[in-house]
Amino acid sequence: MNAWSHWETDFEIARAALAWQAEIGVDEAICDTPQNRYDLPASRESATPRPAPPAASAPTAPTAPAQAATADPVAEAQAAAAHAHDLPALCAALGAFPHCELRKGARNLVFADGQENARVMIVGEAPGREEDLQGKPFVGEAGQMLDRMFAAIAMGRANPDPARALYITNILPWRPPQNRDPSPEERAMMRPFVLRHIELVAPDILILMGRISAMTMLETSEGITRIRGQWREVAGRPALPMLHPAYLLRNPAAKREAWADLLDLNARLKALS
Ligand code: URA
Repeated sequence: MNAWSHWETDFEIARAALAWQAEIGVDEAICDTPQNRYDLPASRESATPRPAPPAASAPTAPTAPAQAATADPVAEAQAAAAHAHDLPALCAALGAFPHCELRKGARNLVFADGQENARVMIVGEAPGREEDLQGKPFVGEAGQMLDRMFAAIAMGRANPDPARALYITNILPWRPPQNRDPSPEERAMMRPFVLRHIELVAPDILILMGRISAMTMLETSEGITRIRGQWREVAGRPALPMLHPAYLLRNPAAKREAWADLLDLNARLKALS
């Protein structure tokens, strides 16, 4: 076997392994670099000598992780967001924000979609698999449901008329692993960015789409099924908490409430104009 055919064989084996993983549902890389688990020592405990404990009296300079632990991510998010004077700058500030671990597992930063001059801004929860792949919010199954919901009242993200247009973002710009709920810390450090995002887009009306969005923006623990349809205020603007389209896909009977909220939104928009 020459060097070339050896390379070909390795390539085919690697490709078959990758295809098999995709087939069984593997959809994200957990580590930055691949690890050959067959090469790991049988017992990490016995193979890895434990580091000696530091001498009690020797003060040491804080290491980088220790400094990160003492940083205040919410204060830093507020400062970074305040410095962003337009939407591209806000997107760049999010991209440079070092404190949210979710960024490490995401393929793309999902910032926003739709019309920047829209009178209605939707704040969703977090990207899922499709959104992470495409770098756009609400493009998976729930996103298609969202588009159908708003099309029923003649609104959409591609509509050029600001009165019928939508601007869409999420609380989190990175997909949480396995679509888990974001932690309270993750939500708190993203909130200043969302508030600045709202300020820059300056919509007339906000839609808080789903439990995580309502909890974060209203800083409440009230359940979404209780508060949906009740007008609240966020950053001085009327905000309507609504049931998330993913919830509606799982609970079709709840579409009745969502329809009532859409009609209420439409009436409010007409009253404003
Ligand atoms: N659900 C959300 O809340 N946001 C998305 O972008 C996709 C699904």
